[in-house]
Amino acid sequence: MVKDDKKEWFAEWFDTSYYHILYKHRDLKEAERFISNLLGFLDLPENANCLDLACGKGRHSVYLNKLGLKVTGVDLSSNSIGSAKEFENESLKFDVHDMREVYKSNEYDAIFNLFTSFGYFDSDEDNLNVLRSINKMLKPEGIVVIDFMNVHKTINNLVESESKEIDGITFNIKRSFDGDHIYKNISFEDKGHAYSFQERVQGITKEKFLDLFEATGFTVKNIFGNFSLDAFDENNSDRLIFICEKK
Ligand SMILES: C[S@@+](CC[C@H](N)C(=O)[O-])C[C@H]1O[C@@H](n2cnc3c(N)ncnc32)[C@H](O)[C@@H]1O
Repeated sequence: MVKDDKKEWFAEWFDTSYYHILYKHRDLKEAERFISNLLGFLDLPENANCLDLACGKGRHSVYLNKLGLKVTGVDLSSNSIGSAKEFENESLKFDVHDMREVYKSNEYDAIFNLFTSFGYFDSDEDNLNVLRSINKMLKPEGIVVIDFMNVHKTINNLVESESKEIDGITFNIKRSFDGDHIYKNISFEDKGHAYSFQERVQGITKEKFLDLFEATGFTVKNIFGNFSLDAFDENNSDRLIFICEKK
């Protein structure tokens, strides 16, 4: 594989087959339970029009659609979208799109950004661009759900080094935090070639998110700490889940 130095890390790594091998054991049942809990909680209009922003191969989109919503899933990775397209139907569509830009203005009742699909950029301006775009894409009083990690718990429990063998490939993983970003360095060999990739996610705290929402025209309605939608607790919660309304 020839590396393109001009590509941002997330455009490169998430588009490889190795990313999908490393994360192939993601819990589908857990994702579906989360979506059921969310839809039970959100009072969305019948046949609500939804956007799954950074949808990957579409696991949440497919289930949202199964539960009766009109869904578009978008992601920067053309390989992931190519695979998600196999699930398309009249009310479920997928497209390649960069979440920093507006896809369709004033179109959606709800936008979902799930499983730590935020904070990949180096500048706060890009975080603001994502939220401003979400605001423009929502209908008046539309809802955005952002599901991020609880950085306090993640940093306190960081496993610095581990190896995982999946599909005959040994992935060597090293994690660190530099006070700003959480890094995951992933190296492995396959068919005689050595590869290394880095995931880099900003350690965005609850307080920082609140500032970002304030700056981009959202009212925070709820903050949950796990997929069962229990209240957020900085020391114990696994997740940091915001439900915000467009002002
Ligand atoms: C951790 S994965 C989560 C995928 C999906 N939400 C799920 O739960 O399976 C993050 C996703 O964000 C996508 N992504 C990264 N940067 C993006 C960008 N600028 N615009 C759109 N999608 C992006 C990646 O391609 C990847 O599919």
